[in-house]
Amino acid sequence: MTRIGIIIGSTRPNRVGEQVARWVYGLADGRGDADFDLIDLRDYPLPHLDEPIPASLGQYQNEHTREWAAKIAAYDGFVMVTPEYNHSTSGVLKNAIDFLYAEWNNKAVGFVSYGSAGGARAVEHLRLVAGELQMADVRQQVVLSLLTEFENFSVFKPNDYNRPAVTTMLDQVVAWSTALAPLRQETSASV
Ligand SMILES: Cc1cc2nc3c(=O)[nH]c(=O)nc-3n(C[C@H](O)[C@H](O)[C@H](O)COP(=O)(O)O)c2cc1C
Repeated sequence: MTRIGIIIGSTRPNRVGEQVARWVYGLADGRGDADFDLIDLRDYPLPHLDEPIPASLGQYQNEHTREWAAKIAAYDGFVMVTPEYNHSTSGVLKNAIDFLYAEWNNKAVGFVSYGSAGGARAVEHLRLVAGELQMADVRQQVVLSLLTEFENFSVFKPNDYNRPAVTTMLDQVVAWSTALAPLRQETSASV
């Protein structure tokens, strides 16, 4: 079964990202076409990038990197749930991404974002990052306004009109994650 990790892209106290990610998980779980897990960056408390060799060379020195690499390697595709901080994604998500390379390659990724402009600017930056990571970023994204989908900017109350976008995004992530499986096998065979 295809495995999709839903990454909570905020570790902030009082984060709203966990509510958003749990909503996505609730819509994903039980679809039957893939297994879905939540991946909480709080469970992988990485320091600022402290690997002496760039991740693309695959020579991880630190135990925390190896643990994070093993976690990400176990998935075929991802949904990144990202806040918008200063018109980009969160530092903690970018840092966690930068720790690894091969573990992201030839996998699909979809985005769910939130912010005053729906977090759209954060996703535009993540799409550039996905290209460098050899990830297939799907077209459909889920854009959640802090003004209309949250009460007092803190309690997530998504309107039902968001659901079709989640379904389409998940359809695309599962389809591309599955289709890219032969490329992932070739890559691991050649390492
Ligand atoms: C450092 C920082 C910068 C922010 N910059 C933006 C921004 O550029 N655009 C925006 O729409 N919201 C911005 N916000 C508001 C966040 O989108 C909002 O606080 C959201 O709840 C953050 O997600 P989180 O609670 O899951 O961490 C910013 C928040 C923080 C903490």
